[in-house]
Amino acid sequence: MLPSVFSGFPFVERFYSYTDLASTNEKACSFSTLPENGIFVFQADRQNQGKGRRGKAFFSDVEGGLWVSILTRIDDISKHFIHNRAISLAIILSLKQHFPKAPLNIKWPNDIYWGDRKICGILLETHTLEPQTLVIGIGLNINFHLDNFPHELHTIATSTLHETGKQISLTRLLRIIIEHYMEYKEADQFKMHDLYSTLLYRKGSRVSIDKFKGIFQAVGIDGHALINTPTGLQQVVSGTMRFLDK
Ligand code: BTN
Repeated sequence: MLPSVFSGFPFVERFYSYTDLASTNEKACSFSTLPENGIFVFQADRQNQGKGRRGKAFFSDVEGGLWVSILTRIDDISKHFIHNRAISLAIILSLKQHFPKAPLNIKWPNDIYWGDRKICGILLETHTLEPQTLVIGIGLNINFHLDNFPHELHTIATSTLHETGKQISLTRLLRIIIEHYMEYKEADQFKMHDLYSTLLYRKGSRVSIDKFKGIFQAVGIDGHALINTPTGLQQVVSGTMRFLDK
């Protein structure tokens, strides 16, 4: 039986909740059954081996965060950016419902920043055996203080509690995020992309992404970053964006 937080959401076919887990993405990526038309949701109170992008660890061994993975079948894996964009927008607009003045932006490709600090990371993976099945991992820092973070994250990460002093309901936040995500992935993607583009963090800045250096012009509708370099406009498919000026 689904918990009441998902009442009225027939598309949530299953919900799995754990007190302590290595990683919700790892669990979802190797799960033996798959959703039919909807989604499975995996949530952990804490993760002792949270996974980040590019093989990095993601700190989530603390209660009070939203550590969640969504498992969903998709028609065309080459269109995975639709899901990246939809979940990024869903997270921002859901946080704005609680904190209307929050200075939230998307750092390409899918970190969410509050001001100049990261508040949320997103990790998209495909299911180990089913390449048409996507796992969308969300790590959102909510009801905990910065002294729960490892020291090296104190100046670069943040949580909503640190920013506002306010605790919010994790289950209600999860419900709104999922509701928005389901809506945005089916919506007009040109409109969704316009919104995504207005929320980009530090568009117009001098950046490097791996070997490319130049001005961060825009993000294309398929998710590549457009960098204006001395040798012309480059489309960069993936990588870590670094800002070269303060
Ligand atoms: C990143 O910022 O590099 C992406 C972080 C993604 C973290 C989330 S937390 C829930 C899910 N389970 C994981 O192990 N990772 C994702």
